[in-house]
Amino acid sequence: MALGKYSRVDGRKSSNYCSTVAIVMFVGICLVGVWVLMSSSVVPVQNSDLSSQESKTKVPQEVTENHSKQFEDSSGDLPEDAIKEDSIPENSQDESNSEVRQNQKESENTPEEVQEKFVEDNPEGKTESDGKKEDGESNSGDRDSNSEGGDASTEAGETNPSEQPESEDSPSENEPKSDEGKKKSDTEGSVEETMQEDKVDLHTEEKVEEVQDKDSKESSGENKTEDQAKDQVFPAGAQSEILTETSTQNGAWSTQATESKNEKESQKSSSSGDQNGYNWKVCNVTAGSDYIPCLDNAQAIRKLTSRSHFEHRERHCPDEAPTCLVPLPKGYRRSIKWPKSREQIWYYNVPHTKLAEVKGHQNWVKVSGDYLTFPGGGTQFKNGALHYIDSIQKSLPDIAWGKRSRVILDVGCGVASFGGYLFERDVLTMSFAPKDEHEAQVQFALERGIPGISAVMGTQRLPFPSNVFDIVHCARCRVPWHVEGGKLLLELNRLLRPGGYFVWSATPVYRKVPEDVGIWNAMSELTRSMCWDLVVIEEDKLNEVGAAIYRKPTTNLCYEKRPQNEPQLCKESDDADAAWKVPLQACMHKVPVDASERGSHWPEQWPLRLEQPPYWLKSSQVGVYGKEAPKDFSSDYEHWKRVVSMSYLNGLGISWSSVRNVMDMRAVYGGFAAALKDLKVWVMNVVPINSPDTLPIIYERGLFGIYHDWCESFSTYPRSYDLLHADHLFSDLKKRCKLVAVIAEVDRILRPEGKLIVRDNVATIAEVENMVKSLQWKIQLTYSKDNEGLLCVKKTLWRPTEAETIMSAIE
Ligand SMILES: *[C@@H]1O[C@H](CO)[C@@H](O)[C@H](O)[C@H]1NC(C)=O
Ligand SMILES: *[C@@H]1O[C@H](CO)[C@@H](O)[C@H](O)[C@H]1NC(C)=O
Ligand SMILES: *[C@@H]1O[C@H](CO)[C@@H](O)[C@H](O)[C@H]1NC(C)=O
Repeated sequence: MALGKYSRVDGRKSSNYCSTVAIVMFVGICLVGVWVLMSSSVVPVQNSDLSSQESKTKVPQEVTENHSKQFEDSSGDLPEDAIKEDSIPENSQDESNSEVRQNQKESENTPEEVQEKFVEDNPEGKTESDGKKEDGESNSGDRDSNSEGGDASTEAGETNPSEQPESEDSPSENEPKSDEGKKKSDTEGSVEETMQEDKVDLHTEEKVEEVQDKDSKESSGENKTEDQAKDQVFPAGAQSEILTETSTQNGAWSTQATESKNEKESQKSSSSGDQNGYNWKVCNVTAGSDYIPCLDNAQAIRKLTSRSHFEHRERHCPDEAPTCLVPLPKGYRRSIKWPKSREQIWYYNVPHTKLAEVKGHQNWVKVSGDYLTFPGGGTQFKNGALHYIDSIQKSLPDIAWGKRSRVILDVGCGVASFGGYLFERDVLTMSFAPKDEHEAQVQFALERGIPGISAVMGTQRLPFPSNVFDIVHCARCRVPWHVEGGKLLLELNRLLRPGGYFVWSATPVYRKVPEDVGIWNAMSELTRSMCWDLVVIEEDKLNEVGAAIYRKPTTNLCYEKRPQNEPQLCKESDDADAAWKVPLQACMHKVPVDASERGSHWPEQWPLRLEQPPYWLKSSQVGVYGKEAPKDFSSDYEHWKRVVSMSYLNGLGISWSSVRNVMDMRAVYGGFAAALKDLKVWVMNVVPINSPDTLPIIYERGLFGIYHDWCESFSTYPRSYDLLHADHLFSDLKKRCKLVAVIAEVDRILRPEGKLIVRDNVATIAEVENMVKSLQWKIQLTYSKDNEGLLCVKKTLWRPTEAETIMSAIE
């Protein structure tokens, strides 16, 4: 793929660039980073600085001279700036130049600036610089890019790398600006030459030779550069446009009419936002600081005529999505970092004393001073979850944790210790449990840095596509699988990949009291009629538990040979992937057998499956961004690897060591999550219900996610994510529902000091920016180019003083 070398950056709207802090920066970072963001395909090189931390740079001194010059000056500054939190910066540079600025509230400012940067990547260049050191490994995939970056960065100035990383976010925030100016100036002239080459492979390293200059937008250069820039740079950016606008394939170029319209809108929205402000209030609800609007709708729950299928734990969204803000619990503190959080969390962040009282003796959770600690792995793992995990594999080696088995579903997860320890085996676990005010298990899980959602097996399908989980696990689950024709177990059958295993660890498996024996017999009959093979009964003697492991068939032969069509096969018209508010049915879908169909073979082993387009993506299909599907997939992945390594890792002021729970609010192929693979984070990939259904692709590559409608609240507790990523989500959403309610939901989900990254058109960015400023969030960075913008903001502890009573949530 071609990577553009030359891109132009236009900072229009920009006026609000960076906020609070100053613009300090180190050049490389910001600019580069930023711009990288914007440009999808761009190749940025400089970024290397950005990434350096990650890469552990090895290369300190070898920088090329030019680079070194650019960075030299800055390096000195960094430390200081980096350290201060909101320092100030005034930048020396003229405004016009700086892309990123602090935000001055007024957006009126400068109209637009155009920057032009040129980047070139040339493999060779890289080689020179890198060559000496050996570090750069060859590139395989993501890491390479990072590593490379690393090298480069070192050149730039060591300062950055070292400081930034550890420091909390604040430091880094500032960095960006200061250097830019210099950098730009240096680079300016050189650009043109470099412009044309693109060819960067990701693999080879890319370097940016120059970054460069910006002129005011009016500058003459604009017109010509524009087209090129868009073309080259935008492939990825274009995605978004293409997405929404769909069919247009002129994708890369926007029309003048569009540009003007967008500009007008953005001016309008920014001005109206400032003037009107938003009158935020705290939610006055019975659930208090644990409010989940769609699960705490007391009014709707009162009207239910039945609770026998846990209807009261299902989603019942208020007619109007709330726009109030959830209060903080008293004594709330910033969450403990992973992996320590797996063992202990702050008691006041999840003060459920009843849980501790009730469960304390079960080795589940204990109150120790200001902490809640999780000594073992939960009730079922007296001697540790890892022992249990390993004994499962021992009894059935085909399980192959972290290779064949990568994405699993844990039903009724307790405090999710199973999922928490499976990270050690490179396995991602989607855990769920119903919301229960006395046993806020999922809240504990999330506070511990372990994935989880509040959900129940009630009357509706779980919000996942069919045939996606490599394993479904249920320990001590008291779900009555065998009743009602096995309806609930049939739902798990829908979710389980053909050839995948169901691991059922429950007393009927290993206890002989009459009740258990009765359940065992009923379960045996049901699983046989479902054509599940009982492969093995595993015993974990140390933990004194046992598990029956069943396998879902990979062909339809058994279904056809059953003496009775019970449970029956679903109608051909039944779409197994339809899962948004679809009622459960007691039927089984046929297993896909056509070799080109998803589910007919097992995916590649992890981590190979992450990188390759699934075998069932066909070239004849058009991808979300308009290319042939497999190419679309690959270019999306390359795009996100670039964006992450060039910009997100170091250019946004995010301290990744304190990020654990991440959500991509509008995931397409999961490229963003894939690009974060080597960090100690997990990413919940949300595929909005009105977006193309790419969730099966996400699972196929060994990642996980969920369907959701962002016009409603998400089934998670407040303050459960460290980072939310919204790529072209809000512009689409505001056509369907009120953006202010969506932002209130974002506020609810995000932990204090958590970050929101928004990429969207400039008008939408401006609107979001105004809104979050009124929430007293700190703008870490804003950046725009052409009509596309990037915003990174940090939530604070601020809460309004006024309250708004949400009658539907008062019990
Ligand atoms: C560095 O820049 C100077 C001028 O700024 C130029 O003469 C020199 O060739 C450059 N060196 C490299 C390695 O690009
Ligand atoms: C760019 O715009 C300037 C002034 O608008 C014009 O003179 C110049 O020819 C244009 N260049 C290109 C390449 O269109
Ligand atoms: C919260 O709602 C309850 C129930 O309607 C009401 O009695 C109470 O006064 C409200 N509190 C505030 C601060 O508005």
